Amino acid sequence: MVDTKISLGSMNLTNPIIPASGTFGYGYEFAELYDINILGSFSFKGTTKDPRFGNPTPRIAECKNGMINSVGLQNPGIEKVIAEELPKIKDCFKKQVIANISGFSVDEYVYCCEKIDKEKQVGLIEVNISCPNVHNGGMSFGTDEKSAYEVTKAVKKVTKKPVFMKLSPNVTDITKIAKACEEGGADGISLINTLMGMRIDVKTRKCVVANKMGGFSGDAIFPVAVRMVYQVYDAVKIPIIGMGGVSSAKDVLEIMMAGASAVQVGAANLINPYACRDIINDLPKEMEKYGIEKLSDIIGIAHR
Ligand code: SIN
Repeated sequence: MVDTKISLGSMNLTNPIIPASGTFGYGYEFAELYDINILGSFSFKGTTKDPRFGNPTPRIAECKNGMINSVGLQNPGIEKVIAEELPKIKDCFKKQVIANISGFSVDEYVYCCEKIDKEKQVGLIEVNISCPNVHNGGMSFGTDEKSAYEVTKAVKKVTKKPVFMKLSPNVTDITKIAKACEEGGADGISLINTLMGMRIDVKTRKCVVANKMGGFSGDAIFPVAVRMVYQVYDAVKIPIIGMGGVSSAKDVLEIMMAGASAVQVGAANLINPYACRDIINDLPKEMEKYGIEKLSDIIGIAHR
């Protein structure tokens, strides 16, 4: 009998599998398909201070081995998330959840983190400084060391919950941003968010996505994610949630060997809504196949 337990800050998870923000709604949509209590946890849709309608459509472009999205942080705003979505989550998910928070200024990040700090079911805050689909927000904080440090420091002052900063791969040196977050007091790092991409329809000669560019995710970005998790593991002492193109139990083992303590599954949920359930079912078999008794033993093992 293999041991799949891992810990993440103060959260103890029965397994490391966490559906990524923006690919799993607020959980209850998937609870109609299977018992989502088998998950380690899940990260709910990115939440901002004010409600957001999101970007114009079309927002999605298909790609070989992946997809581009430009959703634009569509969400009902922090007040409604707390009043209406969290109670529905509580009905179907008995574990702690991850709150994914976005903002357009340091004050907005602070506002949302202070509000969500009071919510018992939230075990960890994932601060998204990496959304590529909005102007003057998201990624503009995650591509600059000083801004990343400032957001981290400010949100840490208003919450006692573990804060994981979600980083963008659209930078020259990811380790500098990760270190700035660690210096700002981050309890962990989530990486990677999507890579900036674009598709053009050769028939219409126009960009497929209304916002022209979007975030590229899916199987094709997995090697980039493994590389960045590996680099960040070397650069910081805080734990990492690894993500980016993870779609199988074997991928989970690989990204953990690079340095991830837990693993988020994103685009795979959009292809197969049972992806996380299937990965959780396959994980013990895959561990046995590679002679792994205790999953936490392999975190960062590729560095030794
Ligand atoms: C979006 O809502 O545009 C995606 C969120 C993200 O990539 O951070």
